[in-house]
Amino acid sequence: MKIVWTVLAVVGLLVLAVLAVAYGGLADVSATGPEPAPVAWFLETTRHSAIERATDDLEVPPLDDAATLRTGLVHYHEMCVTCHGAPGVRPAELVQGLNPVPPDLAEHAEEPAETFWIVKHGLKMTGMPAFGPTHSDEELWAVAAFVDRLPELTAEEYASMVRSAGMTLDAGGGHGHGGGGHAGAQSDGGGHERGADGHAQGAAADGRDAAVGAAGAPHDDAGDDAGHAHPEGGHDG
Ligand code: HEC
Repeated sequence: MKIVWTVLAVVGLLVLAVLAVAYGGLADVSATGPEPAPVAWFLETTRHSAIERATDDLEVPPLDDAATLRTGLVHYHEMCVTCHGAPGVRPAELVQGLNPVPPDLAEHAEEPAETFWIVKHGLKMTGMPAFGPTHSDEELWAVAAFVDRLPELTAEEYASMVRSAGMTLDAGGGHGHGGGGHAGAQSDGGGHERGADGHAQGAAADGRDAAVGAAGAPHDDAGDDAGHAHPEGGHDG
């Protein structure tokens, strides 16, 4: 009998502790600063196990034909570069304010099955979106295939793949602001240095590279974030 009371007391205390955190208003919910170590461990481990389990018997289709990689590149450049960057391409400025910060996938890529799962389903309580609702499995496998190659690519190779797919380097994430004009600015492949002055366009993905290096709209960051419409695209090229 005694043991029952002990268990009930412990459970009661735990419930009280949880309620105290929920209602006490003292928990740090800001996006700055790291999680306390036990919380970080818990989140990391939980995620790792869940993804491992979910991908256990996922069948990986063939991923290394040229068409798949090209599809993957196009989607990667449109949907992922904003947050994860690419060789020679920095992520957008706002990404530094995300917690957790999206990792550089060229430094550290998961297995294709895991990438596929993560991209399809997203990661709760991080900024990682789910692309499953808007994309087919085939497209997402292509992205996973491309991500798998990412660590092998140099900035020059990435830039030239982007151009030969008919996109511009600064178009990352920008779904169609059609500024074909500035491709030229990139062609030295020296991509990343220019990011430095690119802070203007933060919100848009494309802030970091050429965009601005070239011509663009010196410091009027204010206007940019909403639309990043580049109406002045004309004088870039
Ligand atoms: C809005 C920003 C954002 C976009 C866009 C985005 N991601 Fe993420 N991604 C994140 C964040 C945040 C994480 C979680 C980082 C963490 O938990 O440490 C993440 C995690 C990941 C991971 C797991 C990395 C690891 O090793 O833990 C992969 C793989 C990934 N993203 C791939 C992609 C791909 C591929 C795309 C494009 C289809 C994409 N992401 C688009 C923000 C983004």
